[in-house]
Amino acid sequence: MNKRIKLIAGNWKMNTTISSSEELVNGILHKIENNNYKSEILICPPFTNLYHINKLIENKNISLGAQNCDYHDSGAFTGEISLEMLKSVGCSYVIIGHSERRTIFLESEMQINKKIKKSLEVGITPIFCIGESLEQRQSGKTYKVLEQQIKRGFEGIENENFNRIVIAYEPVWAIGTGIAATSQEAQEAHAFIRSYINQNYSSTADEIRILYGGSMNEKNCKELLSLPDIDGGLIGGASLNAETFVKILTASEESL
Ligand code: PGA
Repeated sequence: MNKRIKLIAGNWKMNTTISSSEELVNGILHKIENNNYKSEILICPPFTNLYHINKLIENKNISLGAQNCDYHDSGAFTGEISLEMLKSVGCSYVIIGHSERRTIFLESEMQINKKIKKSLEVGITPIFCIGESLEQRQSGKTYKVLEQQIKRGFEGIENENFNRIVIAYEPVWAIGTGIAATSQEAQEAHAFIRSYINQNYSSTADEIRILYGGSMNEKNCKELLSLPDIDGGLIGGASLNAETFVKILTASEESL
């Protein structure tokens, strides 16, 4: 029996102000009212909206996450946000190593590894993003790349902590392009990730949630979310619309 709870996560990226985020949250709350979802609902707004949104979703069955963090405790790190700070505004998740952070902001695998470790220490669930570029896929390197990213990201993490990590498989070529992975491509990659972790790290790989991310929308979500190794979605563009986001959530429920 599959005991992994599906996670439907909205990655709002650098979108929304206080007022538009409030509108979006209220739209979602209105649509999910009186429903008893089995899937877990997560929203990851920009840092500046976290405090406010945390108040709006209190006791509402929506979890709050951040899109990035720093791994230091405190100190002279101008512009950075620590995990304790995120905890203090109600975050229980944090996205780590998103491909936009890796490519645009040149975040290194060493930094990603430190962020994962620190988030586990502080008690915030990391959503560790991995995925290959188009060039890497076309040259047959997908699995090598995923292996490498997992190896570097997991360095020094104790076995008993693996099932506290959520992985997001996000093929870079699918992010924001409108071209999602086919269900075969996605299932193959997810199954590979799970078996690689199982063989090399932890026999609890069956408990690890692996989300799919990259142009998931209301049309393709049903098929993707019904695949055996896909445990939810990390949704960018389609999470900025309450109706679409809740449609994806509904598809997740129907896949159970
Ligand atoms: P997208 O983004 O759904 O807009 O492709 C997903 C992500 O980057 O997490």
